[in-house]
Amino acid sequence: MKFSGRNILSVGEFTRAEIERIFEVADRMEPYAHRRRITKVLDGAILGSMFFEPSTRTRVSFGCAFNLLGGEVRETTGFESSSLSKGESLRDTARVLSGYSDVIVMRHPQAGSVAEFASASRVPVINGGDGANEHPSQALLDLYTIRKEIRHQGRAGIDGLSIGMIGDLKFGRTVHSLCKMLTLFKNVSVTLISPRELSMPADIVEQLRRAGHNVVESDNMEQSLSVDIAYATRIQEERFASLEEALMYRGRYRLNKRVYTQFCKPNTVIMHPLPRDSRAEANELSDDLDDNPNLAIFRQADNGVLVRMALFVLILDVVDQVDLHARDVNWYTERRF
Ligand code: NCD
Repeated sequence: MKFSGRNILSVGEFTRAEIERIFEVADRMEPYAHRRRITKVLDGAILGSMFFEPSTRTRVSFGCAFNLLGGEVRETTGFESSSLSKGESLRDTARVLSGYSDVIVMRHPQAGSVAEFASASRVPVINGGDGANEHPSQALLDLYTIRKEIRHQGRAGIDGLSIGMIGDLKFGRTVHSLCKMLTLFKNVSVTLISPRELSMPADIVEQLRRAGHNVVESDNMEQSLSVDIAYATRIQEERFASLEEALMYRGRYRLNKRVYTQFCKPNTVIMHPLPRDSRAEANELSDDLDDNPNLAIFRQADNGVLVRMALFVLILDVVDQVDLHARDVNWYTERRF
């Protein structure tokens, strides 16, 4: 198991033992992410953050994770502010920016683009989402969240769970990566709930089946919600040929208090990679569930910092130095909930 210097491009690169190692390191990042301790282990290091698609959580949490380890972030967002808009190739941009940073995180609308960029980069590259293809760090934080929530309920772990994924399973890269990662576990029941036209790509369904998982595909949400984890997603309107086409599906599934109470198990954990589309015509995950203790979406977003910190300390090979460069926090750190 070697993490140092590695690119993180696809979840297919991981073994189960490696995922468990990332989770164990993520647990160790808690005192830093929760502002009890500060560490300067990456003092002097620079993260190149390049986001060519909209992003709030992924971009900011990667940046914060690096800052929390004592490193600095240099950021470019959008094509307009980058030389890619002057016709520069991804490979040239990679050669140049990898001279300025120690590790790079990149998001780009084209599937495969981050891998192409990484092939010319002189430093490790993390895929922050490449089109509809993959979003490996999100899958890691999703699985880390599932493990934590399930343990909190007094259950063992991911093997044997039932997971329902709801919404745009065709274009949603988070569910693509999550399904691929689940193939490393045992005996998972996966219910894929989507309009027929937006179903999970057949090769991913096949990978789940080959892993021995029970997979059910359905377009009826209410009849399919008797699961341990309900993972809602947004219609990825930016990936449709036209907005009109996307609008046909917006609002098709609405997970709300009524549906949850009537159709879910009493402790079904509710997840969503966020952003949830809260416009009235969509409202795929209603805020009338916000008081439900099983709503894990904000804990899920918080966990992104832990998992991303873990990736940085593993890739930059400083896991055992984190605590050596640390001290207690000296400012007001209490949090409101
Ligand atoms: C997701 C993404 O960008 O794929 N967001 C995220 O990273 N948390 C999901 C989405 O945009 O719907």
